[in-house]
Amino acid sequence: MEYEELDRTGRKIPKLGLGTYQIDLAPRDEAILSLRRGIELGMTLIDTAEMYGWGKAEEIVGEAIKPFEREKLTIMSKVWGTNLAYNSVKRSANASVRRLGTYIDIYLIHWPNPAIPLSETIRAMEELVSEGLISYIGVSNFPVDLLKEARELMSRGDIVVNQVEYNLRVRDPEASLLPYCQKEKIVLMAYSPLDRGRLARNPSRELKIVADKLGKTPAQVALNWLISKPMVVAIPKAARVGHVEEIAHSAGWRIPEDLMRLLDGR
Ligand SMILES: NC(=O)c1ccc[n+]([C@@H]2O[C@H](COP(=O)([O-])OP(=O)(O)OC[C@H]3O[C@@H](n4cnc5c(N)ncnc54)[C@H](OP(=O)(O)O)[C@@H]3O)[C@@H](O)[C@H]2O)c1
Repeated sequence: MEYEELDRTGRKIPKLGLGTYQIDLAPRDEAILSLRRGIELGMTLIDTAEMYGWGKAEEIVGEAIKPFEREKLTIMSKVWGTNLAYNSVKRSANASVRRLGTYIDIYLIHWPNPAIPLSETIRAMEELVSEGLISYIGVSNFPVDLLKEARELMSRGDIVVNQVEYNLRVRDPEASLLPYCQKEKIVLMAYSPLDRGRLARNPSRELKIVADKLGKTPAQVALNWLISKPMVVAIPKAARVGHVEEIAHSAGWRIPEDLMRLLDGR
């Protein structure tokens, strides 16, 4: 596995983690086995949220992680955009921790909500750090300006992660967010890294050519393309053991420059 540094602390997180959106819709045993297999293969970062199946995904994660040493895992969850008021953040975090059966390493604001002052949300989250329920604070779906605002509101520490949609087809972060995160050493966590499975099921001609040349699958190339970039971490979701085994092998090699150009359309 390859790793990225979190918050300039020396703490490392894997470049490939496991998403859990809609994992509650898969057969429960298969979902749990898939998460466990992913962890065994080094994908020790798990991304979930109170919104995923309204608690059901967090419960599955809580069950899946039981056999593993807790300190070796990085568990992330998110507070939904309508729960960003001070008391709601506290209530949501406590409920997530109860369902997960453990503390949260990185707690994220799932979506910005202009109706609630960001300062109020950050204050509640900083208290959660002091209380030991969460270790780090992150955001999701934040444009650069709002990310800067969130960082300025922190009384200590920093925003360690911004989770946004990023994959071979959705390249928006490359305009300004990715360069900013790379400069400031904030992890840009790529969600829907397989474009919700479409890059695996229906790859472009270029993606297929590169995969064939390298003896990899389109899913592996699509993920490797992301994690080859500094500060980018990808969190594919897979609720089948076969899929997890395939994507876990997306790290540890590099796409040669000429094939990178083909993928990038340069
Ligand atoms: N912060 C946010 O607002 C936000 C928004 C969206 C997503 N996310 C997070 O990011 C995670 C990943 O995004 P996502 O779930 O939207 O999409 P994704 O990871 O791009 O794609 C998931 C889909 O790909 C399929 N898949 C996985 N490996 C495969 C393989 N080797 N071959 C063929 N198909 C494969 C999965 O099928 P199976 O499940 O059947 O294996 C699933 O249908 C989410 O689960 C969630 O944790 C965050």
